[in-house]
Amino acid sequence: MRVLSLHVNGDRVELAAPDHWTLLEVLRYRLGLTGSKQGCDKGDCGACTVLVEGQPVLGCLTLAASCGEKPITTIEGLMPAHLAAGGTGPDPVQAAFDRCGALQCGFCQPGMILSARALLNRNAQPTRPEIRAALSGNLCRCTGYTQIVQAIELAIAESLGVEPCAPAWAPGTNPWKLAAPAEPGA
Ligand code: FES
Ligand code: FES
Repeated sequence: MRVLSLHVNGDRVELAAPDHWTLLEVLRYRLGLTGSKQGCDKGDCGACTVLVEGQPVLGCLTLAASCGEKPITTIEGLMPAHLAAGGTGPDPVQAAFDRCGALQCGFCQPGMILSARALLNRNAQPTRPEIRAALSGNLCRCTGYTQIVQAIELAIAESLGVEPCAPAWAPGTNPWKLAAPAEPGA
């Protein structure tokens, strides 16, 4: 057991936890921040993604004791951070996920949103392949990812004051469209 002093969502917190506990365990089972999900608990799904110094990390593979004084942001801290920065309502990425219906069960959503927020903080105008690459560690078993990418593109467009690009399912926008099968005997 050790005493940890962590910096979570803008607050300094002190707590006691077993030496081997991960950041995810401390967040969920000591601090009650259950927005970070415990999916696979072995680094495969991204449901436990939180931001440490603004970078997405897997809470299930990060020792809590290794975080020291680094600022940690969980999904619970995103809207308060946006409000503190002068915004209104939820973080624009959260709002766009809501408006685009970019979820079904919602289990992946906190990690998805935090990965997207980290991407937009370092690149205000990522391309669609860059969005997909940034979310490649966040698995969704429900949505098929299309509305998720659309939501991020909506948040980007609104932050830039431009029209959002066409969604991936619009005619002529699928760069991976398969060629028509050859005619028999051709
Ligand atoms: S719970 Fe951490 S990657 Fe799945
Ligand atoms: S909405 Fe269910 S896992 Fe993504």
